[in-house]
Amino acid sequence: MNSEAFPDKVIVTAIRNIILVVGARPNFMKVAPVVRQLRRYPEMFRTKLIHTGQHYDADMSDVFFEELDLPKPDRFLGVGSGSHAEQTGKVMIAFERVCIEERPDLVIVVGDVNSTMACAITAKKLCVPVAHVEAGLRSRDWTMPEEINRVVTDSICDLLFTPSHDANENLLREGVAPDRIHFVGNVMIDCLLQQLPKARHRATLKRIGLEKHNYAMLTLHRPSNVDDSKVLTDIVTTTIELSKKLPVVWPIHPRSRKNLENYGLLSQLKSNKELKLLNPLGYLDMLSLSRSARVIITDSGGLQEEATVLGVPCITLRDNTERPVTVEAGANKVVGNQPDKIRAALLAVLDGVKQQIRVPELWDGNASTRIANVLMARRERSFAILNNGRGVVSKS
Ligand code: UD1
Repeated sequence: MNSEAFPDKVIVTAIRNIILVVGARPNFMKVAPVVRQLRRYPEMFRTKLIHTGQHYDADMSDVFFEELDLPKPDRFLGVGSGSHAEQTGKVMIAFERVCIEERPDLVIVVGDVNSTMACAITAKKLCVPVAHVEAGLRSRDWTMPEEINRVVTDSICDLLFTPSHDANENLLREGVAPDRIHFVGNVMIDCLLQQLPKARHRATLKRIGLEKHNYAMLTLHRPSNVDDSKVLTDIVTTTIELSKKLPVVWPIHPRSRKNLENYGLLSQLKSNKELKLLNPLGYLDMLSLSRSARVIITDSGGLQEEATVLGVPCITLRDNTERPVTVEAGANKVVGNQPDKIRAALLAVLDGVKQQIRVPELWDGNASTRIANVLMARRERSFAILNNGRGVVSKS
């Protein structure tokens, strides 16, 4: 890169030009409420939305723009799939060009996908302040690419917007200065609460042939569950067995579908009538299915949170979670991917007394408002510093 592009100083600028980054499916519902909130103040903030193109299929990307009223991305970087290094590297190269041309005062990244980390590093090396929404979550599982993305991103971001108390504690334990941490709540829940009325009126269950509270919803996409043939075969066998007790609906992620095909498991699944196999669904159909499920079985992070707010029991097919608050809330059981554990957890849900589920603090639909308030306060502070004639301060 051209080292002259930005001076080797931290520049105190009043935040005006903001770039928000989306890349993969779980980013869209986190950015939608934030961009909507910031666009309410055009006299203060000028926002641009950049889509890295990490996810590119219509049902992994376009449908979310339509349903969530996300503005069309100002730039699409078209990065696509690849190994971690390839994908991260391609995002960094493309995003560096964007930052140099757009000269943002702030870059906002969300979540924990490769695009999140790649854009945070790129902006920070150009001395552009970076804010991370959904900061501080930790699984302490270094085999998860997302854990690396989370830790690297948080370690360099200037503003850390956290969804839960455990996230605050994780960051403080890692030595993060308290004034970088802002406990704002969960932006994903902002999106959920905004979209719930629309989801309620959708005919998703009827279309698929499901009865309210009489099916399990399954989603899988983690490499630890879908990349290994033995593990995936065990999960498929268990799912077929469970579907005899409770119909199962499974919207299949492209990574999982590819492996189901490669390992010759798809035809076995397709022959089972109690199992509804679907392509990836849009946000409203997913929400419609989640809210009416008897139980959600998943390895997704976002679904653990959504299940908690919807009051639907969740069984997580992982050994750990970066969202322990969903377990403490009484909604989520983290059981791993062994068939006997999955079976036992499902039976406990079917036979057990319905547990009281508590919605975590600040998962109230106003996280994006709190983020905008923090940015406005910071903008005011920057003006005060600039007016005192200390526009450029040395890097500490
Ligand atoms: C990514 C994120 C993960 C997130 C998940 C949500 C990382 C490291 N992982 O995982 O944290 O939970 O998104 O979906 O960033 N593919 C398509 N079409 C697409 C996108 C992907 O067919 O639009 C296929 C490709 O074969 C690709 C594979 O899915 O190689 C995996 O995609 P990738 O973006 O690498 O990771 P995900 O498994 O989707």
